[in-house]
Amino acid sequence: MDKLSIRDLDLDGKRVFIRVDFNVPLSDSTPRQVTDDTRIRETLPTLHLARERGARLVLASHLGRPKGEPNAQYSLAPVASKLAVLLGAPVAFANDCIGIDAEAKSRSLTNGGVLLLENVRFHAEEEANDENFSRQLAALCDGLFVCDAFGSSHRAHASVVGITRFVKQAAAGLLMERELAYLGKAISNPDRPFVTILGGAKVSDKIEVVANLMKIADAMLIGGGMAYTFLKAQGIPIGKSLVEDDKLNLARTLLADAKQRNFRFILPSDHVIASEFKADAATKTVPVTQTPDGWMGLDIGPQTVAAFRSELSRARTIVWNGPMGVFEMPAFAHGTLEIAQAVAAATTAGATSIVGGGDSVAAVHQSGVADKISHISTGGGASLEFLAGEKLPGVEALTNR
Ligand code: 3PG
Ligand code: MG
Repeated sequence: MDKLSIRDLDLDGKRVFIRVDFNVPLSDSTPRQVTDDTRIRETLPTLHLARERGARLVLASHLGRPKGEPNAQYSLAPVASKLAVLLGAPVAFANDCIGIDAEAKSRSLTNGGVLLLENVRFHAEEEANDENFSRQLAALCDGLFVCDAFGSSHRAHASVVGITRFVKQAAAGLLMERELAYLGKAISNPDRPFVTILGGAKVSDKIEVVANLMKIADAMLIGGGMAYTFLKAQGIPIGKSLVEDDKLNLARTLLADAKQRNFRFILPSDHVIASEFKADAATKTVPVTQTPDGWMGLDIGPQTVAAFRSELSRARTIVWNGPMGVFEMPAFAHGTLEIAQAVAAATTAGATSIVGGGDSVAAVHQSGVADKISHISTGGGASLEFLAGEKLPGVEALTNR
């Protein structure tokens, strides 16, 4: 990478400001508890390295979208407790991410000590990338900033971007490096065939990703709600299935482009349909060309799974983002879980696999194949923007080597 790494920094005895992405799900019950600690565990290598090198760690994150004011519901306090357990070390907590208390607590850190600041989004200045606020954050460290928040790197916010202007060195953490290494290789120099799988409800969320990956990959497998806009664009009746009518023209353009270039753009050939959007609705499995009026497609069918599996079995690189159906309802989770299995099998056979996005990540966990995937990204939106070929502001802002 052309950016400084945490490994390049002289951390001994210095306060280092580490932006992490601890935007994790919490339980509703009191006391609130972290219900999925993946993002915390994924930063541990960075935190261990900093502690071993004698740094004094000042950690910052956002949690949820509290809209610029303090809100106990979005407090990072439960995360501090969880982090202490995972680190096996005490974690001090400051009730505000700037100000006298945070400053005093940062100054009382000893080498290897850890302080977690309260949610940076309790200040509207965070999302506004405010200069003065950025300077106040930077005042909590000794000129050293590390960004390990890959999941937030598409946000040009103060604790991700603004702060870098007020420190001497801004470096990537180990998680950030790992994410960029996997995703970067996939879009710049993939082992081929490179097969992409895209799903999820809406085409509009993934248009740039479809367009960019069509230029790079060898095949694209489309499932989930977004498939119906492409099917309808070809004149196939889709009943009550999800569709974005304002994207039909764009879908036609993408399909025509794929056809002209002989690109393997593969849509579902069969699907599981229901008459209602309900977990216990009556279902049928039919070819996509035979969807009765009033019915909707909610999962890919077995023929489609077989076709996708055959593409995946030949792949050397796989990128997957988005579920193949309404994964949260067991009746329509089958296709997504089968694809998780197929991606894992292809990985065991030698492919490099990268999975991102909440539901597809949940699917690999639920299928029990998470440890077979080469890389599970901690970034949903960030990984999509990266795959769309966009530059991530949080990466761009880091110090060049
Ligand atoms: C995420 O979970 O997508 C990241 O933490 C970014 O959060 P945001 O979408 O609220 O900016
Ligand atoms: Mg998001």
